[in-house]
Amino acid sequence: MVLVSGSGTNLQALLDASADEAFGARVVAVGADRDGIEGLTRAERADVPTFVQKVGDHATREKWDEALTAQIAEFKPDLVVSAGFMKILGPRVLGSFSVVNTHPALLPAFQGAHAVREALSYGVRVTGCTVHLVDAGVDTGPVIAQEAVAVQDGDDEESLHERIKTVERRLLVEIVGRMARDGWTVSGRTVRLGRAASRS
Ligand code: GRF
Repeated sequence: MVLVSGSGTNLQALLDASADEAFGARVVAVGADRDGIEGLTRAERADVPTFVQKVGDHATREKWDEALTAQIAEFKPDLVVSAGFMKILGPRVLGSFSVVNTHPALLPAFQGAHAVREALSYGVRVTGCTVHLVDAGVDTGPVIAQEAVAVQDGDDEESLHERIKTVERRLLVEIVGRMARDGWTVSGRTVRLGRAASRS
């Protein structure tokens, strides 16, 4: 299942990939932390069930975490993909499911919500994207895959982010497919994808 907060182009890439059975995974549901976003429309168009759990609708963040966990559990996902989901997941969700996130920078550089802007203002010449397992920190979990994207003269946040997202979508689809088909193991901070792997 996929969690989104915005335009959902990464979600769309997963929906498109799963149209081919050989991909080995399908999107069983899409969850969001807000209404009225393109990500939810994309799910509805693909006949995938959706739900919204807003932090503000719950008395505490812990209650939100509980409600989100219960809602995700209804769909019994093998994997939860955070694809542009702009909330920090709580301990219950993280304790109940394997969660993968996609981040528009080469972690551990430029963690957090403004990675592209910060990479640009730092003046790096190469940035990129990271697919990683989610742990209790913000963009600190074990890295699964990364790909570099060059910064071009004249780039602004939007142009650079768009080029990163083109790479990000391809990488996310590739990694989610491989995890679904072949499994994975985690040893310390090292994630290995492979047929012999069993989940841990
Ligand atoms: C992606 O770059 C993701 O890494 C970041 O927000 C963007 C989401 O894009 N956190 P989309 O909603 O999948 O189009």
